Amino acid sequence: MSAFDRSGGALSCERVPLADLAAAHGTPLYVYSATTIAERYRAVDQAFAGYPHAMHYALKANSTLGIARYLRSLGAGADANSGGEIEIALRAGFTPPQIVFTGVGKTDTELGRAIDLGVRSINAESENELVRIERLAAAQGKRARVAVRVNPDIDARSHPHISTGLKSNKFGIALDDARDVCARMRERPGIEIVGLHSHVGSQITELEPLRRAAQTLVTLARELKGVGVPIDHLDIGGGLGISYDGRQVPSAEDYAAVVLPVLRDSGMTVILEPGRFLVGAAGVLVSRIIDIKPQPGGKLFVILDAGMTELIRPMLYNAYHRIEPVESSDRPGVLCDVVGPLCETSDTLGKDRQLPEPRVGELMVVYDTGAYGSVMASNYNRRPMPAEVLVHDGSATLIKRRQTIDDLVALES
Ligand code: LLP
Repeated sequence: MSAFDRSGGALSCERVPLADLAAAHGTPLYVYSATTIAERYRAVDQAFAGYPHAMHYALKANSTLGIARYLRSLGAGADANSGGEIEIALRAGFTPPQIVFTGVGKTDTELGRAIDLGVRSINAESENELVRIERLAAAQGKRARVAVRVNPDIDARSHPHISTGLKSNKFGIALDDARDVCARMRERPGIEIVGLHSHVGSQITELEPLRRAAQTLVTLARELKGVGVPIDHLDIGGGLGISYDGRQVPSAEDYAAVVLPVLRDSGMTVILEPGRFLVGAAGVLVSRIIDIKPQPGGKLFVILDAGMTELIRPMLYNAYHRIEPVESSDRPGVLCDVVGPLCETSDTLGKDRQLPEPRVGELMVVYDTGAYGSVMASNYNRRPMPAEVLVHDGSATLIKRRQTIDDLVALES
């Protein structure tokens, strides 16, 4: 049974009515189901059981401390994509060996910090970066563990903005160059090449690109072993998609069934970096209708108190998120554009939606906003960031309070 349930006539999260949470904390409000996160985490963990694996949750999907801490309590490690995310990982209780550090443009300060902490692996994106890591590590009298991020030139067939595995994308070292780069770097005293890494995109719903990417790493690792570079782990990134519209997508078992036969051949530990798959479906955005107005042709504009500042995915990727009233209703359906309150026409959360005749003041829910929702929120139009609540088995915890105007101006003189 889904944690988001309408059996009482109104939508609840793990038996806590969303209307009660909205009354207590205001809107817009992010609400997360802990049980859903745990179920998704265990699904991946069990799918890879029997093979040495480590899940490093991609903090970029949702790094609110309460969420990061909860994933740590389940046994996850962390994938940090910036110095900021490394510090968040530490504050959430992850130890340096539980952190991998990714990112296409890591500064010397960020790299120095990661080396000093002794993270599990720095996923290096270029030969220049490897040289910088080597220099910084040598200066600290240390040997940095790195994984070389390979760009396998694979089309993940996802949205172009979130595809990362094509050679025209800025990520990783071209496959043709990777072997020579590793061979050149292996003798350097400040560096230890412990892994290979690839991440070909996000919201991937076909498994073949993920299988090919894993195969590329296994083949390269074998070649490197042949030239005296022993690799200890293969980091196959994240990217597994979720269903935003009810269409069937691959499960964690389907994913494992496709990549494990390839990986088994290598015998190497696999690192996974799932983000969206773990938290996407665990979150909803609760919002209130501020106004309703007719459009020429009979459609309605439904104006919410949430918009692109709380959820930019529809505007940025033309992403689809289901939108429904919180209270169940048998009112007749009308065609609506669900929009936000901001001064931009693209501030639209859902176009051409059939909604039961909407009413001003009614609560609405936007589904599947647990990943890349609150982390991509902004203060545009001086809008304070929403509050966030984590619900677990009938009890709700405020894990982020709503920003105030004082918070907003705190950095300004
Ligand atoms: N590892 C690396 C190196 C990544 O770049 C990413 C995501 C992940 C792991 C996690 O990917 P996931 O399992 O969540 O697909 N803002 C976009 C998604 C950007 C993803 C960036 N990289 C969206 O809202 O769809």
